[in-house]
Amino acid sequence: MRGFSSDLRRSGKTIAFVPTMGFLHPGHLSLMEKGKSLADHVVVSIFINPTQFGPNEDLSAYPKDETRDLEMTRKAGVDAVFLPDANQIYPEGFQTVVSLKFLPGHLCGLSRPGHFDGVATVVTKLLGIVRPHKAIFGEKDYQQLAIIRQMVKDLEMGIDIVGAPIVREADGLAMSSRNMYLTSSQRQSATCLYQALLASRQLVQDGETSAAAITRSAAARITMVPETTIDYITICDPQTLDDVPVVNGPVLMAMAVKVGKTRLIDNLMLTP
Ligand code: PAJ
Repeated sequence: MRGFSSDLRRSGKTIAFVPTMGFLHPGHLSLMEKGKSLADHVVVSIFINPTQFGPNEDLSAYPKDETRDLEMTRKAGVDAVFLPDANQIYPEGFQTVVSLKFLPGHLCGLSRPGHFDGVATVVTKLLGIVRPHKAIFGEKDYQQLAIIRQMVKDLEMGIDIVGAPIVREADGLAMSSRNMYLTSSQRQSATCLYQALLASRQLVQDGETSAAAITRSAAARITMVPETTIDYITICDPQTLDDVPVVNGPVLMAMAVKVGKTRLIDNLMLTP
């Protein structure tokens, strides 16, 4: 991977990088398309990173289909796929953790302790191996994107971090490798996240400014739907992720909801 990247760099070519955990879907493909439009070559990594899964999370069950993934990247016109295994990324004696002070203390970081340390560490390592000019991340994982931007800035990594919009199913459900865990009735329930976000956007456009009132109404909507358990629903500052009590400018509304045992996330910008 290093050799491939240095050869391209030496010949003056630019590289866009799309890190993934595989089981690719059109959301991932949109990042590759964006990469192609921004650089001469696109590199994708597929690595199910053990350090970002908590002890009671779905590491061992995480879906995997390497043959299908490679076919999809080939069709997408990706130049190289990097498929390391866990002991190449974390060889014996590995001991560094990249950890941010404030951004992980919000949203998903509260219910997934250590998750963003795992993400920041593996992304640092992948960026060090691939040495891209640009790296593309989805806004679906908004907090992850914010953390990577901050980390790359703080550590002067000199890589342009590019965000890409959420790709959704026809009924609005944000695409995710985890959607395959849903039974057909849960799959129907799962549309409630986006429905609640759209209803909240409407409330704001109709003049509601109380974040508490908006999140209360979204929670009431979601609670009515079978098999749902709310982890969090938050209205926050799009940069710092600090809670915002009064909506008087663009804010991020973000939520995590368990449908059955599957934890789904979604978010939307609300603008008065
Ligand atoms: P993964 O969940 O496979 O997602 C890889 C990238 O695809 C992330 O940047 C994510 O935000 C983006 N993505 C996923 N679903 C999307 C959708 N519906 N629309 C747009 N983009 C979408 O995120 C990870 O892997 C890992 O944490 C990783 C960054 C690879 C580090 O291990």
